[in-house]
Amino acid sequence: MQRTQKSEFGHSNDVIAGWRRAVGAALDLGAKTPFYLFCPNSVADRLGQLDALDFGRPVRHWYSCKTQPLAAQLRWWNRTGRGAEVVSEAEFHLAAGCGFDTDRLLVNGPAKYRWLPEISRSRLRVNFDSPTELRELLPVAIRDHWRLGIRLRTPEEFDPGAPELPTQFGFEPSEAVSAIRLLRKQGLEPETLHFHLRTNIVNADCHARALASVVEMCQAARFCPKYLDIGGGLPPPHTRAKDGSSLAARFRLTAWAAILRRTWDTLPGVQELWLENGRFLLAGSGALCIRILDAKRRGDLRQLIADGGRSLHALVSLWEDHALLPLVPLGGRRIKTAVYGPTCMAFDQLALRPMSQGIHPGDCLVWLDAGAYHLPWETRFSHPHAEIWWDEGDTIRCERR
Ligand SMILES: Cc1ncc(COP(=O)(O)O)c(C=O)c1O
Repeated sequence: MQRTQKSEFGHSNDVIAGWRRAVGAALDLGAKTPFYLFCPNSVADRLGQLDALDFGRPVRHWYSCKTQPLAAQLRWWNRTGRGAEVVSEAEFHLAAGCGFDTDRLLVNGPAKYRWLPEISRSRLRVNFDSPTELRELLPVAIRDHWRLGIRLRTPEEFDPGAPELPTQFGFEPSEAVSAIRLLRKQGLEPETLHFHLRTNIVNADCHARALASVVEMCQAARFCPKYLDIGGGLPPPHTRAKDGSSLAARFRLTAWAAILRRTWDTLPGVQELWLENGRFLLAGSGALCIRILDAKRRGDLRQLIADGGRSLHALVSLWEDHALLPLVPLGGRRIKTAVYGPTCMAFDQLALRPMSQGIHPGDCLVWLDAGAYHLPWETRFSHPHAEIWWDEGDTIRCERR
């Protein structure tokens, strides 16, 4: 019974105990707070969860490099034989340096004509993002026999702050039809139709609506892609919105797979489904360890000031709540507690919630699910970057001092 019991944010007691053990082991090896600790085990579990679904087509997973640009994790992923999706020159070099060959590199993202021609390779896989990009990159695409894709902006992609406005990514449907015709005039046929809705998609119906617009555009262009690349966006388990609701509660993986299965009736030529999930696969692979430096009491609020926090290490805490645990389990009464990082910003608040009154300066806290969009959004505001530790198999080692 003890093994499957759920506690903080739906994590099992086993998972929590595992992180406490690994963070403690890193400290014993000399890790200095604040530090991140990453471990690939949960990535393998999440991949297994997706691979158990019936999509009606083989699935290819691409590592979303932007979500966790960490060489050790990329090398682990590379050993599974899968590919990496990159959106910048820096990510391209990182993935190539970790051993991904041309066949397992997928180049995405806007305005890549600024850097891609210099490092182009024969038979590279590139998803075009705009008519300008297509015009600029077409000679290189022809010269190097690129394998091409078109990113479509579906009506499901809008500015979260102003839903009446579209996002800036991809081709509008009529532009996509013209792009496919232009490519055909050059004797080229795109292989891939790509879209990416957004991150933390609330439920799978968004995909049904987006896929309807994909089908419409494909019919207008008399185009049937070989690969349908639906990007990422699945919400990770164990993280919550600021209103306390689970980000993943309404996303049903089986309903999502059924929506994709139905798509093949209208796009029968699709041979593979491509996924680029970052957050879902990687969030659970990281933890951030910080140490309490000071404590204050303001009325009924206890304020804990730590050596790490939102501004430096966990920007996602602006819109997400994660499990935040004392390294050593503490019982006792929970009191209203705010945990801050060390920077001179009131903004630097990692969490506000009831926590054990037994936490004191000198104690370590562990922020879980720090594997997605923590490293790419870390800052050096008054302080240097945190250490990075890597836990794989029986070894824990420092990846960045
Ligand atoms: C093209 C593309 N693919 C995949 C991802 C990964 O998204 P997520 O981490 O929400 O799965 C992103 C994120 O911005 C993206 O832009």
